This record gives sequence, C-alpha cells and structure tokens, in this order.
Amino acid sequence: MDVKLLSGALGAEINGIDLKDTSIENFKKINKLLLEHKVIFFRNQNITAEEQLTLAKHFGPLEKHVYVKGREDYPEIVRIIKKPHEKNQWGENWHSDVSYNVKPTKAVILRSIKIPPVGGDTMFANMELAWETLDNNIKEKIKDKKAVHSSLGGAFFTDEYEGMESNGNHKEYTNQHPIVRTHPETRKKILFVNWTYTKKIIGLEKKESDEILEKIFEHQARLDLTCRFRWTENAVAIWDNRSVQHYAISDFFPGRGLGYERIMDRIAIEGDRPN
Ligand code: SIN
Repeated sequence: MDVKLLSGALGAEINGIDLKDTSIENFKKINKLLLEHKVIFFRNQNITAEEQLTLAKHFGPLEKHVYVKGREDYPEIVRIIKKPHEKNQWGENWHSDVSYNVKPTKAVILRSIKIPPVGGDTMFANMELAWETLDNNIKEKIKDKKAVHSSLGGAFFTDEYEGMESNGNHKEYTNQHPIVRTHPETRKKILFVNWTYTKKIIGLEKKESDEILEKIFEHQARLDLTCRFRWTENAVAIWDNRSVQHYAISDFFPGRGLGYERIMDRIAIEGDRPN
C-alpha cells in the first residue's frame, strides 16, 4: 500500500487498496486510514453502486438527505449533477454536512462519475488543527458554549441547481451543538462550527456572536489547514465529516471549466450527537 500525503494539514491519496473488496478486513484498513488522515482518496476505482453502498454500511446506518431526492434505483445515493452550462455547483461553500441535524453526518463516500477537464476540485480543512491553532482569547470565550445551526430550508439545496431534485420537504431545521466537540473515536477536540449553517453562539449578544463567528470562519479557511483534491473519473473520496469541512469549488469560467458536466454519487453515513 502506498500513502501519498496531500498537504501538511490533512488528506492522503491511497494506492494499493481495492474498494471492490468490501470485506470487513478491508474496511478496518480504510477506517484506520480515515481516522489518521481525515479525508482519503482513491483513484481508478470502477466500483458499482452496490459496492459503494456495502462499503458505506460498514461505517454504520446510512443517512437519507433531508431535502434532496436520492437516485430512483438506490434512494440512499444522492447524485450530484452540475449541468454543462451551470456556473455553480452543490456544496460550493465551507460546510460540514447537515450540521443542522440532531446527529450530523459521520462520514461521506463520494464517487466521481463525470469530471470536467478543469475546475470543480474539492477542498477540505482540518477542524482539529483549527481548534489547536485558534486564538487563545477566542478559545476561552467559546470553549463551553453551544451554537445554533440552521438548515436554511429546502430551497437552498435545490433551487439554484438544475440537476438537484427536491424530495418535497421544505421545513427548516435548527439544532444546537457544542462549539468544541470531542471525536468519539480519537477523543480529539474539534472546532465544530461552519460558515454555511452556524448562525449564532448561544449566550452572547448577536453583535458579539457575529464578530466571533466571523473571526472563526476566517481562521477555519486558512490555507495551511487545507488540502485540495483534483478529481479524475472513477475516483472516490471518503471524509470524516466530524473533523473536516469541505468546499466544492465552482471555478467554471468561460473558455476553461464552463461547458462541462460534473456528476458525483454521494452516500452519507449517520453520525452521533456531538458532545
Ligand atoms: C458536497 O458538498 O457534499 C459535494 C462535494 C463535491 O461535489 O465535491
């Protein structure tokens, strides 16, 4: 097995593991790599939807997306489609998946089906390092506090993206989570707020909460905390959604990335209640 680190902060590209091998032994190797590198990538993995599902089920029960309709044949798989003429794509800001749920996603397995010749890379940021490197005054202010996360309603997930179909749910969900959570497997502290869904720090006036959140969001996006993956077709990314954030870059500009379709198959695994 060959493990190529993607940056000094997180992420590794793994060679020598076949994702068609859905045995428990192979899963254990993959989970160990995931906990160590937080996001892992595999290229040239021509796996079927069933194989992707079987691998995902080793991590735990699967999660259906709150707002987006799954594939007709495999409802647990959300097909993320960016049509050729679209400039924007799903997931195009820093976020951790469904942090507005009572139990936000544990991990995601994303497989690339169709990739533009350029554009549409995905970035990841290490939230364990984000906590470690955060300004001490901010740490003191927030360390025992919770924050409100909002789902922003169904329109946010489908209205701007032609390829994404609503499942008919338009309710908005709001939940509170500790700002600093402990990873249930590694016991490491993680900074668990994100630019897209976190709206307010509980116990602070709105102005102070806004100011602190703005500083945290800027800190979380520091480039030295990130890695970036250039997709090729039939690649697979697995990320630990408890300890990373991600950002699907919409750099589809005329004459370069615009004019091509981007298609991904996403399976999410249910998480636990952050504490
Ligand atoms: C997502 O935010 O889950 C989508 C990531 C991607 O398409 O690269």
